Amino acid sequence: MRTPLVAANWKMNGSREFAEQFFAAFDMSGVGCQVVVCPPFPYLPLVADKVGSGVSVGAQNLSQEASGAYTGEVSAAMLLDWGVDYAIVGHSERRSLYGESSELVAQKFVAAQSAGLIPILCVGETLAERESGRTLEVIAAQLQAVTDVAEGDIWAHAVIAYEPVWAIGTGKTATPEQAQEVHRFIRERLGEAGAPVRILYGGSVKAGNAEALFAQADIDGALVGGASLDAEEFARICRAA
Ligand code: G3P
Repeated sequence: MRTPLVAANWKMNGSREFAEQFFAAFDMSGVGCQVVVCPPFPYLPLVADKVGSGVSVGAQNLSQEASGAYTGEVSAAMLLDWGVDYAIVGHSERRSLYGESSELVAQKFVAAQSAGLIPILCVGETLAERESGRTLEVIAAQLQAVTDVAEGDIWAHAVIAYEPVWAIGTGKTATPEQAQEVHRFIRERLGEAGAPVRILYGGSVKAGNAEALFAQADIDGALVGGASLDAEEFARICRAA
């Protein structure tokens, strides 16, 4: 049995006032899933202080390095200092806007997991890749980059998020069937180790489409962007999980 998980990715949005107001409005009543809130780095201490039971804190990224002369970077140890439990790695915006390769994402996955964080590994195809029938090939390569370098029972302490790039921020959500096909592929790709892994869907998840997505056998929750900036909408998505 996999405990559903719904994570909020605030991206580069928010402020101290926004974070205060979010948690003043965020109502966990009726929520039975695990909740993770991933604010921008500066607000991690504030969010860590605000979250109640059933809610964990996540980072949106981290350095693959442990410490040193890496200006502007944030290490896993620094995140743990502030009570962070999860770390998103390989978000498509890191890959496309900041040139993070699957090999670098794999290093970040290992750095997070080695330090005791739970990595949320993002995978997903572009519209061009989907339209050319390469979706599963792309997802397989993104997973392979991690299994090539990570050692041990890596999926026991990790979450995967399938985020079709063409559905992120576009309002074009994958259909439950499209998402289920890829989630099933991912779970089968992991073999026996795949059974307990939470595989989240991300890409224009809203309160109105969450239930149909979560009804799919291999969709264990969501990684929510825009809708997570509205505490009441995000709570409705969490209740649907
Ligand atoms: O990481 C979640 C994000 O990429 C999805 O964004 O706005 O389509 O929910 P959004």
